[in-house]
Amino acid sequence: MKEGKIFFVTSNQHKFSEAERILKAKGINIAHHPERVEEVRAEDCATVAREAAVCAYEKLKKPLFVEDSGLFIDALNGFPGVYSAFAFKRIGNEGLLKLMKGKEEKERSAKFVSCVAFAGEGKVKVFSGECLGSIAEEMKGKEGFGFDPVFIPERSGKTFAQDVELKEKVSHRKMALMKFAKWLKKESRGEK
Ligand code: IMP
Repeated sequence: MKEGKIFFVTSNQHKFSEAERILKAKGINIAHHPERVEEVRAEDCATVAREAAVCAYEKLKKPLFVEDSGLFIDALNGFPGVYSAFAFKRIGNEGLLKLMKGKEEKERSAKFVSCVAFAGEGKVKVFSGECLGSIAEEMKGKEGFGFDPVFIPERSGKTFAQDVELKEKVSHRKMALMKFAKWLKKESRGEK
């Protein structure tokens, strides 16, 4: 694949800004296509992302990627998971904290999962990343978006919303994007 602009198709400006900074540091420039991508119903983020990338490519016909992410809470059997966007809209962080009320520290483990799906001519690739952590007792911090005020990454006492610098080092999106960047570099060199 030749070097050229790759479009990140997302209606989430926060996701775009995070991805832009992370990929720029790897020498990859991206452009924003601010459109909401239709999502299929599926049990895992990888399938949702893959289908969305294929669908977006059929429409736009240019190299692009999409990203699907979710928060999986062990004590809630993985909920909200692939329904994270819906859950965030309906119950928000307050509702999530209510569901976790009374759970002790050892029962509050959770992880964020991110799947980045690239689609280009005759090519679809999915890259996933995870960030392990736990659900805070209360909302803390003002930065970031979504569940950032209630998610504490492992080996940190602060939520993502309190420590965005740490978020950009260890987040699920960072992990998935680093794999994507590595693959893109290889592709641009024509390596298999
Ligand atoms: P989707 O990937 O657009 O389907 O949305 C996933 C939902 O998970 C979003 O609405 C956010 O509420 C939440 N989410 C995904 N990534 C993050 C993150 O990095 N921080 C906080 N919340 C997130």
